[in-house]
Amino acid sequence: MAKKELKLRSVVAPTETVVVSAYDPAGKADACTLAFYMVSSHVPPCVTIAINATQKRKTLKDMLETKAFVLGFPSISQVKEADYLGVESGYNTDKLANIGFTTSPAQTVHAPVINELPLSLECEIVHTVTVGSHTQVTGEVKRILADESVLNEKGRVILEKLQPIIYNEEEMCYHTLGEKVADAFRTGAALKKSLEKLTIVIPQWQGGGQDLCTYEGAFAFRENYLAGAADATVEISTADISPVRDGILGYDDILECMQQVNKELQKQEPSRIFTVGGGCDADTPCAAWMNKVYDGDMAVVYIDSHGDLNTPESSESHLYYGMSLRALAGETAPEFLEHLASAIIPAQLITCGARNLDPGELQYKAEHQVTDFTVAELEADPGLVAAAIKEKEYQNVYIHIDLDVLDPAEFSLTPLAEPDGMTKDTLLKVLQEIKASANVVGFGLLEYSGTMEDRNDPFLEALAKFGMEL
Ligand SMILES: Cc1cc2nc3c(=O)[nH]c(=O)nc-3n(C[C@H](O)[C@H](O)[C@H](O)COP(=O)(O)O)c2cc1C
Repeated sequence: MAKKELKLRSVVAPTETVVVSAYDPAGKADACTLAFYMVSSHVPPCVTIAINATQKRKTLKDMLETKAFVLGFPSISQVKEADYLGVESGYNTDKLANIGFTTSPAQTVHAPVINELPLSLECEIVHTVTVGSHTQVTGEVKRILADESVLNEKGRVILEKLQPIIYNEEEMCYHTLGEKVADAFRTGAALKKSLEKLTIVIPQWQGGGQDLCTYEGAFAFRENYLAGAADATVEISTADISPVRDGILGYDDILECMQQVNKELQKQEPSRIFTVGGGCDADTPCAAWMNKVYDGDMAVVYIDSHGDLNTPESSESHLYYGMSLRALAGETAPEFLEHLASAIIPAQLITCGARNLDPGELQYKAEHQVTDFTVAELEADPGLVAAAIKEKEYQNVYIHIDLDVLDPAEFSLTPLAEPDGMTKDTLLKVLQEIKASANVVGFGLLEYSGTMEDRNDPFLEALAKFGMEL
């Protein structure tokens, strides 16, 4: 929005209108209205007022002599009297008597308490300084007196009961207090929490068998596209893969990795996550975590040439990377499930670019009516995924990309490249369309098998940027 430069003045500073009272050397009480007031210390409790020094206010003169004042808070029903105390001077008349206000001596300082005001602070002057036109006077609060009518049962002043007068200097008028709109600190803390992001590198490779290329790819990606840095990098063994257990090759290695990822998630408690694999199964605990954080209000966009929908029973290869999406849907080894924070339901799922599925995987998708877009459909309209998320009414989205969704002629740094894939351009457009209409809370980039020498690819730079800017 266009900005306009304003003339220098003290601009838009609504404050509670206060009435400050003091005794003159003869012991006569005077009071004037102030808008320049602030709380200036919690311990000890102090308030600071600013009074025009050049115009010689009587109340300022008096308080500087007695080293004390009382700060009173009028109610909106006393707006006339408060305004009057701000336009007449005690040098001319007995202002307080004129409006029927009475005073009693404060108990802790030499200053008058105005009996009619519902809240009064007895203050001893501890500091004064003159800046520009005004003398700032800081008083340490020595006693607080309140009408019971403005307090709750815990002795807290309730603003709705006090009904303070709000002065609007910009328009020279008074306002009443509006409704409560939000809880202080909690509202900001909730936003702070929602912005907590974790970039994690999980070079888990065992889900794909003996090949270490995705392990090396994870480090190469971190080095070349994340400026060598991530919030966490999970330590993965490169020793021989552990044997098949419960139908899963590398069971112990994968379990160990899941435990480490969970430790990291529990330590950092992220509300957004960017995961760099590793194999296709590396980000499953991260997606499960996000699903828990957003209480199931999260679409899972699974962009992959494969289904990853086998179970330990149905998989002939025993390779876990062919089972990871089914695991995210809550069907895998019970011990693994303990490390997946939550399970998604099939309605959350949108699969994109799948083209090499086992019969069992096809059956699962058909039975559960999984939303699916083919490469050709997405090439024709990259906005389909964003539209489907909207139609399903999910606010948040987790995006998983297995790079083998791309056509090998476009991108080959992935171990299981499949023909007839997506173009890089379409993939980036799909992501931009999603980002434009949904809250992307998680992004997993998997199955990269580039080396340290593979640098400066604008496409991978764009993917890294997408993840870093979640
Ligand atoms: C709404 C309102 C706010 C005011 N705020 C201040 C203020 O912050 N500082 C100040 O020096 N005078 C302020 N004044 C002006 C004084 O209250 C005014 O000059 C008063 O007549 C001084 O009285 P006294 O000579 O009896 O002390 C304000 C007046 C009004 C009506």
